[in-house]
Amino acid sequence: MKDLKFYLNKAIKNHFALGAFNFCNMESLQAIVSASLKTKSPAIISVSESALSYMGEDFVMALAKTAKKQNPALFLHLDHGKSYEICKKAVDLGFDSVMIDASALDFKENIKLTKKVALYAHKKGVLVEGEIGQIKGVEDNVKADQNIYTSPQEACEFARETGVDMLAVAIGTSHGVNKYSKNPTLRMDILTEIERLLPSLPLVLHGASTVDERLVETFNNFGGQLSNAKGVSEELLIEAVTKHNVVKINTDTDIRLSFTSETRKVLEENKKEIDPRKYLGKGREKAEQILSAKMRNVLFSAGKK
Ligand code: G3H
Ligand code: 13P
Ligand code: ZN
Repeated sequence: MKDLKFYLNKAIKNHFALGAFNFCNMESLQAIVSASLKTKSPAIISVSESALSYMGEDFVMALAKTAKKQNPALFLHLDHGKSYEICKKAVDLGFDSVMIDASALDFKENIKLTKKVALYAHKKGVLVEGEIGQIKGVEDNVKADQNIYTSPQEACEFARETGVDMLAVAIGTSHGVNKYSKNPTLRMDILTEIERLLPSLPLVLHGASTVDERLVETFNNFGGQLSNAKGVSEELLIEAVTKHNVVKINTDTDIRLSFTSETRKVLEENKKEIDPRKYLGKGREKAEQILSAKMRNVLFSAGKK
């Protein structure tokens, strides 16, 4: 069966990554679906706790069902679940995988909660992602003030104790548009050491948006006010994907930025426009272009369906 586990294993063997793309409305999901179809890619469609409550679980499940009907190599994932209850809810709803993000707890408590989620999820055939170390960020439910790099020894103990199927590591990325004040860097040495200890564990990179400066320029030219925006470089992501076991690359900001910069442009250039299809449709088109290019040139998931 070509389930998520199948694709994670295939990605480890063939050095490509599945994009884990966040959606929060029909148009952002449509952009992901059509990019995955155009490039023949498997991918993960992620909803955060706040996106789940924004759309409502019935809409999320109906949208995901439609997306999977169009591309069966799309997998529904709960992003940054903060409690056992929300992870259990996602498992019961029929998600393919859940992330329990207990990285703010101390190490032993993180293990305890992650293991509890894994025991429940695995009984129902649902995969589990855990996190150790902390990834800086400013999204609604995802807050950590500074990067605390993952310790490879702790990663090893954590994975063995909890039985997680995927492990999110903190190696220098962060959530949102302001990832770096200087040149982007990633601690590849941490990946190398984790891979020495756990050669077949699928690794996950959060905060992996590249924050294309052309999109920031469009955003600011049409009334936006983003300053000091900087993402991870494509070169570093390519290295993480092709030379390491990073097989899930989380991306939300690039979708938000492409979508909203284009929407701003249409609205600024067409001051009498009131039809949401006109500006959301252009936002969707731009997000699809950005995602297709990412699947082809950075994740190398194109053709791996
Ligand atoms: O990593 C977090 C995602 O970007 C989700 O953010 O809670 O604002 O939907 P959100
Ligand atoms: P970005 O903010 O870099 O897109 O990261 C998203 C993410 O990690 C979702 O879990
Ligand atoms: Zn994240």
